[in-house]
Amino acid sequence: MPLLIKNGEIVTADSRSRADIYCEGETITRIGAGLDAPPGTEVIDATGKYVFPGFIDPHVHITLPFMGTFAKDTYETGSRAALVGGTTTLIEMCCPARSDNTMGSFEHWMAQAAGRSACDFTFHMGATKFDAATESDLREIVSRGVSSFKIFLAYKGAFGIDDTELYRTLKLARELGVVVTAHCENETLVFERQKELLAAGKTDPGRHHESRPPEVEAEGVHHLMSFAELTGAHTYVVHLSCRQALDEAVAARRRGVNVAVETLIQYLVLDKSYAERPGFEGAKYVMSPPLRDASNQDVLWKGLRDGLIQTVATDHAPFDFESQKQMGVSDFTKIPNGIPSLEERVNLLYTHGVRTGRISLHTLVDAASTRVAKMFDLFPRKGTIQPGADADLVVYDPDYRGTISAKTQHMNVDYSAFEGWRTEGRPSVVTVRGKVAVRDGAFVGDPAGGRFLKRTPSRL
Ligand code: URP
Ligand code: ZN
Ligand code: ZN
Repeated sequence: MPLLIKNGEIVTADSRSRADIYCEGETITRIGAGLDAPPGTEVIDATGKYVFPGFIDPHVHITLPFMGTFAKDTYETGSRAALVGGTTTLIEMCCPARSDNTMGSFEHWMAQAAGRSACDFTFHMGATKFDAATESDLREIVSRGVSSFKIFLAYKGAFGIDDTELYRTLKLARELGVVVTAHCENETLVFERQKELLAAGKTDPGRHHESRPPEVEAEGVHHLMSFAELTGAHTYVVHLSCRQALDEAVAARRRGVNVAVETLIQYLVLDKSYAERPGFEGAKYVMSPPLRDASNQDVLWKGLRDGLIQTVATDHAPFDFESQKQMGVSDFTKIPNGIPSLEERVNLLYTHGVRTGRISLHTLVDAASTRVAKMFDLFPRKGTIQPGADADLVVYDPDYRGTISAKTQHMNVDYSAFEGWRTEGRPSVVTVRGKVAVRDGAFVGDPAGGRFLKRTPSRL
C-alpha cells in the first residue's frame, strides 16, 4: 500500500522544510507541498511533528558471546527495541573469538539476523586475528557486501590483536577500500592495572574506571593513528569517551590521517559517579572504555557540535543485572561490560542535546543517521529523505513527555541505566522501507521484515 506523510517538518542533516512525502513500494518517490494520495494510500498526518530519515546505529552488539556469557538481546527483541526508538538500521559487530573460523563466524552472525530482524542490518566484520585463512575469509566477506572491519586493541586473550595483526589488517583494508573500526585501549596497561587493583583488595565496580583511565584510551588511539598513518587505511575510533583520546584523534586528523570518531550516548549523559554507586549498583554502569569524569561531557558535546566527532552510537551490549552482572560481585574484572541503550539513543540525544541547545536538530540527524550512512557506504539509500531513498522515516513528536523504565522498555534486559529519567519527544510513527513498523511507542511491523544491506567499499 502506498504511504503519504502529510504536513510534517522534514529535517535532514542540512535542510528543513514543510512538505509531504509520498512513498511507493519501498522507496520515497515524491516530496512536495499538497501531494494527493490515490485511493488505498495510507495517510499519516504529521502536523506539528518532525520527519527525520530513519536513524542508523553504527555500533551494536546483538549476538555477543563475551566474558563467559551472552548478551541478552536477540534480533527479535533488539530490532524491535531499535525501531521503537527510531533506529531503522543496525550495524552489528560480528566478533569471532580468536579461536573461531572467520567465515564460519560471519555465517553464524548472519544466521542470527536473517529472517529474524524487524529492521535492516549489516555488519562490521571482526578481524580478531590475522593469518592466511583469515585474510582469505576477509576478502570473501568483503565481496559478499561487508565494507568495514572491526578490531580490538583491548580484551587480551579474547578479541584483541597484536601489532603484527594490526599492521596487516590495516594494509588489507587499505587495499580493499574498507574502513577499519577500532576499540582503542592499551590492553597491557589495562591488564597490569587490573592486577594491581585486585591485589590491593579493590574489587568493587567503582574500580573499573581506575583500571582504564583516559591515558589508556588515549594511548590506544595514538597507537592506531601511527599504524593508520603508515598504511593509509581509513579508520574509525569507536566509543571514544574522553578529552585525551579526542585530542589524539584530532591531532592525527590534522596531520592527514584518515580517522573518524564515534562517541556514545552513554558518555554524553552519564559519568563515572554512576559506576561508583554504593553496593553493587555500579555494575549496571560498567562498560569499556569506562564512564568518565563529568567534565568530559562538555568536551564531547562540543566535539559533536564542532564536527570533531562524527557519529553517536550505543555500543548496545545488554547483560542482566540480577544474574549476569553478578558474575563480578567480588571482582570487577568479571562484570560483563556494557550499558544497554539501543532504544533510548535518539530520545536522549533529543532531550539532552537538542532541547538544551547543545546541538542542532541537523547535528542530531547527521550524527545518528546521515554521517553514518555516508561513512559506511549506505548513502543515499539510507540516511536521507529524497526521491529514490529507502522509505525509512521517523515521524517525531517533540511534545511527547515520557519516563524511561525497565518495566516498559523493549530491550531484553532486566534494568535500565536511565531508570526514572524524563524524556522529551519520541517517534510517533516509524517506517521501514515504506511499511509502518511503530505507532505511538508500540511495535506493529513485520517481525522478520528486515534485510541484510550489501555494501560496496568506496575508498579506493
Ligand atoms: O563495554 C563494552 N563496550 N561492551 C561491549 C564490547 C565492546 O567493547 O564494544
Ligand atoms: Zn569496544
Ligand atoms: Zn562494542
